[in-house]
Amino acid sequence: MKKNTRVFHISDKAHEGQVREAASILRAGGTVAFPTETVYGLGADARNEKAVMQIFEAKGRPADNPLIVHVDSKESCLKLVRAVPDKASILMEVFWPGPLTLIMERKEIVPDVTTGGLDTVAVRVPENKIALELIKCAGMPIAAPSANLSGKPSPTTAEHVLSDLSGRIDALIDGGEVSIGVESTVIDMTSEIPAILRPGKISKEELEKYIGEVKVAYDDKIHPESETVRSPGMKYTHYSPKSGVILIEGEHNNVVPRIKELIDDFSLRNAKTGLLLTEESKSEFPAHLLYSIGNKDKPEQAAKHLFFGLRYLDERKVDVIIVDGSFKPDGIGMAVFNRVRKAADMIIKV
Ligand code: TXA
Ligand code: MG
Repeated sequence: MKKNTRVFHISDKAHEGQVREAASILRAGGTVAFPTETVYGLGADARNEKAVMQIFEAKGRPADNPLIVHVDSKESCLKLVRAVPDKASILMEVFWPGPLTLIMERKEIVPDVTTGGLDTVAVRVPENKIALELIKCAGMPIAAPSANLSGKPSPTTAEHVLSDLSGRIDALIDGGEVSIGVESTVIDMTSEIPAILRPGKISKEELEKYIGEVKVAYDDKIHPESETVRSPGMKYTHYSPKSGVILIEGEHNNVVPRIKELIDDFSLRNAKTGLLLTEESKSEFPAHLLYSIGNKDKPEQAAKHLFFGLRYLDERKVDVIIVDGSFKPDGIGMAVFNRVRKAADMIIKV
């Protein structure tokens, strides 16, 4: 199924024509990758079974892992769901457009392939301008998982998308680097007390300010294939580059010497290491191959750089990526820890 992937480069000016062309590919049942504020998504018409199946094929995604449907407004969302619980309605008003995905009971118009056979559907209104224009112009709900090969780190640039999916999708809109860098918060609104299935930029505390108690229904582990989980995505390997990943969690002063020990161990075994470090740790490893995930007290920087850094070091063919886990676990930092713990082959607490 080799495809000729068209790339639309978008500058700030005159891009309506390109968005229109991309929208017509979607209307014809094709697949188009596009930027959102979180990560790049791989889109297709959420109502069209054949189109949605191409997403699963391109990504190599397990068929029981449901997709998020992207719409342009609360009104468009109403066409997809049976009812909007009061608390969901409040969250829509406060956080849409933005990095929050709500799970509600689906209407028939959303086919089984899109929801992995579940009776619920995940919906969000993205904040990215190009994404919104594309949805409006295509005039449809767009099903879009992250635009990476299944199991790989999510793409934060158009180059990442091409490196995974070139020749496997019909088109890509290159809108530059995304602004957030980790995927949306996913919250299940079908239970009396809503439950977070995936952490993201919008934290439990922020959600609770508006709707009261919210449960946490995720953890940072990969669950066995046989287990029944609330969000099928919890069962699958995630965010993992080809290289091995070791995460060292703790205070800066404890993490740095442990990284030094590991580097020595691996060099004795002739294994090439790459480092994903905070700005504060960088100067301790002057000659080493490294990528900075930013200031340890600014977890939004780690969010923006985590997937980029994993891919950057992976491309340099290291055997092991050592991640400096001394950045703050507050707010979006929680989501970053969730992703990097899932990517890690080993976690060391110091
Ligand atoms: O930020 C994002 O959410 C990005 C951008 C492109 O919007 N999308 C994204 O999609 O991360 P994806 O497919 O990579 O992750 C969707 C997650 C998966 O873990 C999936 O299992 C869960 O949402 N999910 C989707 N529909 C669900 C449903 N009906 N019930 C439970 N979990 C669901
Ligand atoms: Mg994904």
